[in-house]
Amino acid sequence: MLDLLYKRRSIRKYKPTKIDRDTVQVLLKAALLSPSSCGLRPWQFVVVDDSETLSRLAAAKKGAGHLKGAALAIVVLADPNLSDVWVEDASIAATILHLTAESLGLGSCWIQIRKRQYSDTETAEDYVRKILAVPETLTVASIMSFGYPAESKSPYSEEDIKSFSKVYGNRYGSAY
Ligand SMILES: Cc1cc2nc3c(=O)[nH]c(=O)nc-3n(C[C@H](O)[C@H](O)[C@H](O)COP(=O)(O)O)c2cc1C
Repeated sequence: MLDLLYKRRSIRKYKPTKIDRDTVQVLLKAALLSPSSCGLRPWQFVVVDDSETLSRLAAAKKGAGHLKGAALAIVVLADPNLSDVWVEDASIAATILHLTAESLGLGSCWIQIRKRQYSDTETAEDYVRKILAVPETLTVASIMSFGYPAESKSPYSEEDIKSFSKVYGNRYGSAY
């Protein structure tokens, strides 16, 4: 697990290679196995592999452009009426998708949609909602982009952990 966490990076450039259905199934099973508060599973997912739809989603906000070259996107939705901590639950599912992608040799990147704007007058969430016909009762939390990597990034190292300076022992401020 730690090896995977050192290697994991956000990958935004992808080869044109498609991702086969069995591999997509693994990603989805991983997401559906995510822990959630009280086991309420407030998330739902939309799998997008249509290139025209991916291009439209790429315009949802600044920082979503790489969806245009992605082989696949999984849009993470959540039902705020089902759980008061849906933000955490949706974030865990997105993180699990990101880590599972790494374990499958895929590159992936989180694209924040919740609390982001498409334009001065329209939220990124409403923009995505319209394209995918997402019901009003559900929130669009994030979009995960996937594809076989066409860029390589340095893995993290011991240096990046920065001497555990954010970790305290027994009380805040005490060295661990
Ligand atoms: C909550 C969250 C939101 C993010 N939103 C975006 C985004 O909208 N667009 C993007 O290209 N990357 C996004 N990222 C990826 C971060 O930019 C990336 O994780 C960070 O720069 C560290 O790089 P690394 O993932 O390679 O370690 C997001 C990551 C997280 C956890």
